[in-house]
Amino acid sequence: MATSCLAGFALVLALSANLSAAFPQDYAGQELLDEVRQLLSLASTNVQQVHGHGNGDQSDVDESSTDDDHDIKPDRPRVVKNWPLTPLKIGQVSGVSVNSDLQPVIFHRGDHVWNEYSFNESHHYLQGSKGPIKEPTVLTLDPKDGKVLGQWGANLFYMPHGLTLDRHDNLWLTDVALHQVFKFRPGELQPSLTFGEAFQPGSSQRHLCKPTSVAVANTGEIFIADGYCNNRILKYNAAGGLLRVIPNPPEFLSLQVPHALALIESMDRLCVADRENMRVTCPRAGLYSVQGKREPALTIQQPDMGRVFGVAARGNLVYAVNGPTSPLLPVQGFTIDPQTESVVDHWAPEEGFGNPHALAICPNNSAMYVVEIGPNRVWKFDLVRPTN
Ligand SMILES: *[C@@H]1O[C@H](CO)[C@@H](O)[C@H](O)[C@H]1NC(C)=O
Ligand SMILES: *[C@@H]1O[C@H](CO)[C@@H](O)[C@H](O)[C@H]1NC(C)=O
Ligand SMILES: *[C@@H]1O[C@H](CO)[C@@H](O)[C@H](O)[C@H]1NC(C)=O
Repeated sequence: MATSCLAGFALVLALSANLSAAFPQDYAGQELLDEVRQLLSLASTNVQQVHGHGNGDQSDVDESSTDDDHDIKPDRPRVVKNWPLTPLKIGQVSGVSVNSDLQPVIFHRGDHVWNEYSFNESHHYLQGSKGPIKEPTVLTLDPKDGKVLGQWGANLFYMPHGLTLDRHDNLWLTDVALHQVFKFRPGELQPSLTFGEAFQPGSSQRHLCKPTSVAVANTGEIFIADGYCNNRILKYNAAGGLLRVIPNPPEFLSLQVPHALALIESMDRLCVADRENMRVTCPRAGLYSVQGKREPALTIQQPDMGRVFGVAARGNLVYAVNGPTSPLLPVQGFTIDPQTESVVDHWAPEEGFGNPHALAICPNNSAMYVVEIGPNRVWKFDLVRPTN
């Protein structure tokens, strides 16, 4: 799909869009326009930094610099051996994020397993009478050796899915059996925000249906991927008021199981692991305007991608993992450059992945964690500059 012409077009769109057209004067004053211009030039500088040869000239945004960048390899994931040092007692690990102390936090299903008996055709959870998972489902691990530093979340969840920590260490959890999403402030036992109705799948604005993932912007805006049945993304303000549904007709974006979200704020893009469409697609996040600009999503789709389960942003790049798709397609990781709509690297542990479900990148960009469902495990990777 991503011909260099298309990629170039997308880049020009992303970086030198007609801002006066994008933000009419009656809504956005000159100040906002200047701010956005600054962000856009910042975005282009970040690309150069990620690729290791920024020249510091923020105003010099042209296509030739991108053509150079194209050949520079991004930092590569390298498995940290003997991590965790001792095996974790965990069930299916569905979610992972990293807190501000750079500790990985995982969300697992204990003795609950998602199988053909879990839901009926109308997405109702069938095993509610067994009660919630009795053991702690949220574990904070030591980045040095993977020891459990803290645990939480017993007797609350039925079928854990996504876990996201925002920059204030609020914990955002999705449960596909409850059809709900929760925000927990650090150290609090009651959620401060709840989205969806317990055990009630639905497609109204009040209901969610097997929600998969949450992303939170520095502005406080919340994105919920909803999810296995509604194939939509809901955007809320920080207080939980619904702002927008993506896609919002006549905007065209057909999602099939949006499974994970990664925000690239400098580009104003929300990258979606669009699982069953076997691609990553990055519509405008619309963080700097009320409406998403009428502009096509950046889309990365290659024959070897398969079903994309997890995405995480690092600078202006996206690291992604696929899952079992067909015997012909390796289960592996991808490094993606959304601006050129291309896959710039592939990676996997020597032993291979089984069923990777989610990944997260450390706030200081030094490490990455991948969690798997069957075999249930947590990988730590260093992100290292390639030698050539
Ligand atoms: C940008 O948009 C404004 C407002 O719609 C228009 O007046 C102007 O001609 C446009 N400029 C370019 C270069 O397209
Ligand atoms: C699924 O289960 C729910 C709750 O038991 C029930 O109300 C619903 O009718 C069932 N749907 C189907 C398609 O069987
Ligand atoms: C990131 O944090 C880790 C763990 O504290 C530390 O060892 C590493 O040096 C840091 N890396 C950078 C680039 O700051």
